Amino acid sequence: MATNLVHTPEECTERPPAGDPCIMVIFGAAGDLTKRLLMPAIYNLKCDGLLPEKFAVIGMARKDLTTDSFREKMSTDIREFSTRSTFDEGAWNDFVEHLHYTQGSFDDEGSYSQLADLIGKLDGEYKTGGNILFYMATPPSVFGIISDNLERMGLRSEENGWKRIIVEKPFGTNLSSAIDLNKEILQYWQEHQVFRIDHYMGKETVQNILAFRFANGIFEPLWNRNYVDHIQFCVAETVTVEGRGNYYDKSGVMRDMMQNHMFQMLAYICMEPPSSFASEAIRNEKAKLMEAVRIMTPEDVRNHTVRGQYGPGKKSDGTDNVGYREEPGVNPESSTETFAAAKLHIDNWRWDGVPIYLRSGKALGKKDTEILVEFKKAPEVLFRNTPVTSLPPNQLVFHIQPDQGIQLKFQTKVPGPTMKMQPVNMHFSYGEAFEAARGTGYEIMIYDCMLGDATLFSRTDLVEQAWQIAQPILDVWESEPAQGFPNYPVGSWGPKEAFDLIEKDGRSWLGMSNIAT
Ligand code: BG6
Repeated sequence: MATNLVHTPEECTERPPAGDPCIMVIFGAAGDLTKRLLMPAIYNLKCDGLLPEKFAVIGMARKDLTTDSFREKMSTDIREFSTRSTFDEGAWNDFVEHLHYTQGSFDDEGSYSQLADLIGKLDGEYKTGGNILFYMATPPSVFGIISDNLERMGLRSEENGWKRIIVEKPFGTNLSSAIDLNKEILQYWQEHQVFRIDHYMGKETVQNILAFRFANGIFEPLWNRNYVDHIQFCVAETVTVEGRGNYYDKSGVMRDMMQNHMFQMLAYICMEPPSSFASEAIRNEKAKLMEAVRIMTPEDVRNHTVRGQYGPGKKSDGTDNVGYREEPGVNPESSTETFAAAKLHIDNWRWDGVPIYLRSGKALGKKDTEILVEFKKAPEVLFRNTPVTSLPPNQLVFHIQPDQGIQLKFQTKVPGPTMKMQPVNMHFSYGEAFEAARGTGYEIMIYDCMLGDATLFSRTDLVEQAWQIAQPILDVWESEPAQGFPNYPVGSWGPKEAFDLIEKDGRSWLGMSNIAT
């Protein structure tokens, strides 16, 4: 749907209130996450007037920095990683005064005394009312020791102001470690204090799925097994493991992308309407949906999943890339999957018999995240004795990234004396319709956490249910090592078996014409 109307976010909505006054403590503040995503996100909140005036950031890490050198470092990094088209010096200069640093080691008790002193001082200066947001930009292995020390220093008590913690993935590496990690976290924190980040939930286009489904009357009546033929989720990446070989070789695409980001999108597309937009109402529906996903038997895993690993080839930018096994940090005989495809079923009234196909991989020919809802075809019988021999189905496509928009494909008659059909697209593009500032996806997560709104964050049961679905697949893959790896070249669309998986059902993957397999 082409539109000439361009709306600024301000025209569309009133500016929301700023977050609650608070101190944000970032554990692991000298790392990549802080400079690439957290600081640009907090700075965007500042520029958009969503950061409270009464606010301070304390970075804590092993690195030998002072508040002054931390501010200098962040001032350099922000110029590289800011997502704004123009840099607002005034806003940054004002914001940088709110940054503080304390050097410390997570296992050193003395470091926490210094942290507590600094928190006490800044709480008085900035009048943050005892509210503290702890951001764990650290491996999960240190959550326990950090939480213990915060308790010792009296920094976990909610008697004076709220205390919340943001936890980054991975939430475990399998079902049992996820259960252990949740137990450990819940031993220190209550569920309402825990905010588990899945950055896909921060993407505008992912959040829009619920708005699209429940704010438009025309689609929901069709959103079921009577009208939907199948659904596809595709997260294709052109990037290789790029220096993350050590981490990735223990992970693979099932753990890295499917079990979290893709299952979250699946829940949004397929869940029942919640009773309200309240956080627990939405999370309850997501949990019910995840519970309805059929757990695969070993036989299902063999028949309905495919895994792949990239071999040498040309990346989408034309440069040569080594195969996965030659990447730094990767075992030269690794059987870790860099590509996976799966066919799932949802055993509930709405989706019985509607297959759900998922596909994701690294080093593919094009970066594309999209969701396809394909409707059942119209009967062709009416068109007998006309040149129309087949009618392609209507398709609704959610373009999540890099293109952001929604597209509806339908048939039209080609002008002329005979009855000929051609598929055409109604296309809504975010970029054309809104001047929305491109963010990192972390803005809304940090902002919501400051307000105590957990809608976009994963609850304990959701994390564990997602592992329940992934675990049987991982078990079979582990006990039956993959044959014939590598099985797709860099720059392709994955292994041939992934095409077989869907084509044997008489269907095909969306949108990958002109790229060789
Ligand atoms: C991360 C994964 O969670 O998501 C990465 O660890 C992956 O391997 C990334 O590349 C993809 O995120 P995005 O936002 O670029 O689609």
